Amino acid sequence: MSEPTFEQLIEVKRDGRAHSAEEIDRIILGYSSGQVPDYQMSAWLMAAYLNGLDAEETVAMTDAMVRSGRVVDLSSIPGVKVDKHSTGGVADTTTLVLGPLVAACGVPVAKMSGRGLGHTGGTLDKLESIPGFRIELTPEEFVAQVRNVGLAVIAQSPDVDPADKLMYALRDVTATVPSIPLIVGSIISKKVAGGADAILLDVKLGSGAFMKTEDDARALAAEMTRVGRALGRDVRCVLSDMDQPLGMAVGNALEVREGIETLHGEGPEALTDLCLDLGARMLVLGRVAEDPKAARAMVTKALESGEALEAFARWIGAQGGDPRVTEEPGLLELSRESREVLSAKSGYLAAYDAEGVGRAAMLLGAGRERKDDEIDPGAGLLLDARVGDAIKEGDRLATLYAATEARLDAGEALLAASVSIGETAVAPGPLLREV
Ligand code: URA
Ligand code: CA
Repeated sequence: MSEPTFEQLIEVKRDGRAHSAEEIDRIILGYSSGQVPDYQMSAWLMAAYLNGLDAEETVAMTDAMVRSGRVVDLSSIPGVKVDKHSTGGVADTTTLVLGPLVAACGVPVAKMSGRGLGHTGGTLDKLESIPGFRIELTPEEFVAQVRNVGLAVIAQSPDVDPADKLMYALRDVTATVPSIPLIVGSIISKKVAGGADAILLDVKLGSGAFMKTEDDARALAAEMTRVGRALGRDVRCVLSDMDQPLGMAVGNALEVREGIETLHGEGPEALTDLCLDLGARMLVLGRVAEDPKAARAMVTKALESGEALEAFARWIGAQGGDPRVTEEPGLLELSRESREVLSAKSGYLAAYDAEGVGRAAMLLGAGRERKDDEIDPGAGLLLDARVGDAIKEGDRLATLYAATEARLDAGEALLAASVSIGETAVAPGPLLREV
């Protein structure tokens, strides 16, 4: 039998049949090598989105994505290399806090990170708001820094998992992002190609996340664990709340400031708690702590003693950034114009539309609508209240920062529409749902 054409491969998925591993290779590697045009891959992605991929197809796709490029070799760094990934949230500054926290406890962190798109922020954009910080290191510099400083965070290298870069860009404009198998392939292939031995996944759940329901978030967590293990990696998942922004800051310089405050022990409670919880799990995965209780004691001590803050300063300095930001947050400049948003009524903060809050920050200039939009590192917003707080008319709900009054107007309208004030007090959901 002759090889099927790409059109016939699309037909297989269109009609809801399963691909062989060889067919999956032809699809993924054909696309990443430029033999398959965007319009055919778009059709296949939509067929996969609508009809799904089964357990074997998802493993085969993830494996093919890893093989689409170079696999980072971290074997010269002693110890278990643990990577952490969040499925994307709002005011999620955890990487900036967690990296130094676990590095201070002896777990090496070698992380490749992405930029923000749409309503979710990206770690690289946050780091670039630090004067001088370099996100491009050669592979040799990257590995040497992890060995010497214990921590490095760089841009995704274009030759590592190129299939994911191409597929994600296409999914983003063809309404095929929120598909469990496609998300699993994207995340797990990136982490495996990045050289991690063990992976901790923070699956976000709620109004600000891709997964809006608990069932979907659980299904995503179970699939990522299964596929990661099929590829020989130790994968653990945590489900965490994204019904309200995690921290109080949304925006790049603002989130770095908040990360530094957290490392000083003065950060928002939810962000601090999540970092301590995830950090403790990373110590267990990295085998530097015997059990969860000992791990929790170690990360708590690293935070309280200031060792995590020192690790942050060493890391920033090693990548060319100005380490004085740890003591002088004013070096992280905010946008020139600012405005306070006041509550129009009294009551209780009933809910945030976390995605709306993220989009408001984007309109202020903190994020990108399109891939090559410029961002304003000083733009964003600082929230004043958590779900359940009592609010009086005229109380400040947020402070907005932007380059122009027009951006403040746009951001203010969307932020105001993203906060609901009700008449009765509600208790917020738990931060961590399950592992
Ligand atoms: N984050 C990723 O890296 N990939 C996805 O597909 C979705 C979220
Ligand atoms: Ca934050």
